[in-house]
Amino acid sequence: MNEWRLIGNIQRLLFNCETIEQMGGVILNVLFSVIPECRKAVLFLYDNGSESLKPFFGLEASESVNIEEYNALPEEILRKQMRAPFNSHALKYPSVGRASPFFEILLNDSCSMECRGDTVAEICSYFGFKNLGEFSIKSREKVLGSVIVDANCRTAGVRESMEVLKPLFSIYMDDLMKASYIEDMESRLETGYPSNMRRESLYRLGRASSWIAHEIKNAVIGVIGLFRRLEKYIKKDNKSENYIRVIEKELERIYEFVVDINQYAKGFKVNESVLFSVETIIEESMNAVGIPNSFVTVVTNIHPNARYIQGDPSQMKQVLINILKNSVEAIGKRKGKIWISTARNGDVVEIEIKDNAGGIEGEPVHNIFKPFYSTKSHGTGLGLAIVKQIILAHSGTVEAHNTTFGNGEKGLRFKIKLPLKTESGGVDGENNGGR
Ligand SMILES: Nc1ncnc2c1ncn2[C@@H]1O[C@H](COP(=O)(O)OP(=O)(O)O)[C@@H](O)[C@H]1O
Ligand SMILES: [Mg+2]
Repeated sequence: MNEWRLIGNIQRLLFNCETIEQMGGVILNVLFSVIPECRKAVLFLYDNGSESLKPFFGLEASESVNIEEYNALPEEILRKQMRAPFNSHALKYPSVGRASPFFEILLNDSCSMECRGDTVAEICSYFGFKNLGEFSIKSREKVLGSVIVDANCRTAGVRESMEVLKPLFSIYMDDLMKASYIEDMESRLETGYPSNMRRESLYRLGRASSWIAHEIKNAVIGVIGLFRRLEKYIKKDNKSENYIRVIEKELERIYEFVVDINQYAKGFKVNESVLFSVETIIEESMNAVGIPNSFVTVVTNIHPNARYIQGDPSQMKQVLINILKNSVEAIGKRKGKIWISTARNGDVVEIEIKDNAGGIEGEPVHNIFKPFYSTKSHGTGLGLAIVKQIILAHSGTVEAHNTTFGNGEKGLRFKIKLPLKTESGGVDGENNGGR
């Protein structure tokens, strides 16, 4: 796995942590995956009440798992690791108060101590370490925790890895702590605040995020332009070309992300409700996604009674683009198929989009509509949340289900139901206008 993808994967693992236990587990398992020479590691967490660092989780390399295989650390693996003898032993170590020399060691990021000197020797002997390396987890100089590792941190590779991991762990640990604070606020908002104040807070939050996204988008457009000009002056060799590619890709990703955030935060209102042809928006969406014809086949089946829909055509096109793009991404480099069909059921037009890309495993399917839910290292997790917003704005519903085909292949099936609005003249015939 290349360095960049590995970092993306670690970020996703950290982002998906909902509890401090999960985060502790991810941090230690990541350490062993990134620093193979590390034999044991113990995470200490800072306790504000007693102003001391307490052992929280200890893990040995032999008990660890390869994190490259996961999007989130499975709960049963974490429980098993917590039951291991080394963890019980580590947890018995007394809290380390400010007055203790160990406290200093836990905060000094030196990661190059050999097991000499009284305090270090005592720590090494208790935890069974040959070497003692350490890095602290801080948020703006506020200590959140510290990790001690049994690895020779004089090795440049080990030190470099720790330098990369330290800020990642700090940012996500800080986020998780704030998240519980936000959840607290949310529950206070839900229970303790009058509903008009709650609405106002949410409105302000939405406004703030869309304004931030707008500002970032403008800045990124400028940076992309300047970077393209600068690129000509950069001496080209393998390493710099690789860096240029990564910078460009990341800038584009930020751009896409803020566009999605902006749309999501603003929400959707059906501005223009007209009758439009489903076939036209399917074709336009396929062009926008850029279906790779050599390995993705799209089969459409438009029922004559469900040829036209009423609504906002540009928003409905966005729905199709987001769903199709996911199918194409799920198919990846294999050969695959996407089916799009429409049907009429009483006063409802149904649109079904399905693929044979494998579907969703080990996760409730409805999670995919949650904002920021993504299993991709470069996903925004907003595509389907936006789909849901648009469909709801059209007074419709959208569901996703796993599906199995006759030949045993699996895939994902989306069903969108939209009410048939007949006030502008019905949608049955071809004489009704439409785009
Ligand atoms: N057709 C599909 N097949 C398998 N998984 C899918 C499909 N569509 C969506 N998903 C899953 O749903 C997640 C959320 O999708 P989305 O909201 O578009 O965000 P993103 O594409 O940025 O990850 C994806 O990361 C993927 O795990
Ligand atoms: Mg998507």
